[in-house]
Amino acid sequence: MKQTTAVLLARRPQGTKVAEALSLGPIDLPELTPGTALVRNQYMSVDPSTRGRMDPGEKQYTTNFEIGGPLDGSAIGIVVESASDLLPVGATVRHRLGWREYAVVDDRTATLCDLAKAPAVSWLSAMGQTGFTAYAGLLPVGRLTAGESVFVTGAGGAVGSMAGQFARLLGASTVVGSAGGAEKCAWLKDECGFDEVIDYRTADVRAALGAAFPEGIDLFFDNVGGWQMVHGLHNMRIHGRISMCGAVSNFGTTDQPSLAELIETVLRRVTIQGFIVRDFEELRPEFEERVSGWLARGELVDRATVFEGIENAGAGLEGLLNGANLGKALIRLSD
Ligand SMILES: NC(=O)c1ccc[n+]([C@@H]2O[C@H](COP(=O)([O-])OP(=O)(O)OC[C@H]3O[C@@H](n4cnc5c(N)ncnc54)[C@H](OP(=O)(O)O)[C@@H]3O)[C@@H](O)[C@H]2O)c1
Repeated sequence: MKQTTAVLLARRPQGTKVAEALSLGPIDLPELTPGTALVRNQYMSVDPSTRGRMDPGEKQYTTNFEIGGPLDGSAIGIVVESASDLLPVGATVRHRLGWREYAVVDDRTATLCDLAKAPAVSWLSAMGQTGFTAYAGLLPVGRLTAGESVFVTGAGGAVGSMAGQFARLLGASTVVGSAGGAEKCAWLKDECGFDEVIDYRTADVRAALGAAFPEGIDLFFDNVGGWQMVHGLHNMRIHGRISMCGAVSNFGTTDQPSLAELIETVLRRVTIQGFIVRDFEELRPEFEERVSGWLARGELVDRATVFEGIENAGAGLEGLLNGANLGKALIRLSD
């Protein structure tokens, strides 16, 4: 029986202190059977949902992790042995068995990454679930049309940086983001083409939104929840829409607003729609076509912050929850 090194959940974490709750250890790799392949993982995605899945309670998007068991999540790697005609040796594939160095993947769930369309790491960021989340939140959920004004929270992160740039490429009139710290704000404005960026750690966000959107926000793409969600709500245009993508502030904040703030949805006749990206799979081909075109024409900045080595996986996740990533957070497992 072959084994590989994996990141294991040693104990349930408190707040954003996740690194100390993880350990490294060996796990068994199943023998190859027809339709499967052995993949050497190169990069894995670091996602806020991984933190949610460490909790014991309500399920976060998918199954929660067991104490002593391995974590999982999106990864790309190279096929090194194969019992599948669909996954030839040497191919780059994307699959869900990250947080380990090697994985045996099934050709019904792993997908080939066409490196002629986008570089390998982009298949985890702009061309991956990250970009697809931004796309789903803006179009089928947010119903964005050209000429509308858009506000994106968590704009310096993976989904947020894509959401703001996609909105601009799809014809939004004004795109404003919020992010933590001067470096992220400058990057979003100078390189990613946001019209304005609010540093939520230092600014009066509600007042800054009032100045940036004198006629109100048409579409609010919210990654953060909490007080920023409320500040956005107070600046919505009548009949505006809120696309609820996530609430990453839930993990580290105890100062949460009251539900009484929701009266603003009545006064402004606002529609709030939550969504999960996996419900929009039929849009994947059109999404890949559009985004690979934007990448090829140099119209999209697809930046990643890379943490090195499986031993830094916990630090990478903790870094993400504390804002250490500019764009997509990845962990490099091998070349
Ligand atoms: N609905 C779906 O299907 C779906 C799919 C994927 C992801 N998501 C959600 O999308 C959101 C973004 O995910 P991502 O992968 O792109 O992560 P990310 O934005 O790259 O990383 C998380 C970012 O959140 C910010 N943050 C952390 N604590 C915060 C707080 N208290 N207040 C404000 N900002 C805070 C940090 O940036 P700062 O430096 O700016 O603080 C950090 O970099 C998450 O809520 C995630 O759960 C939803």
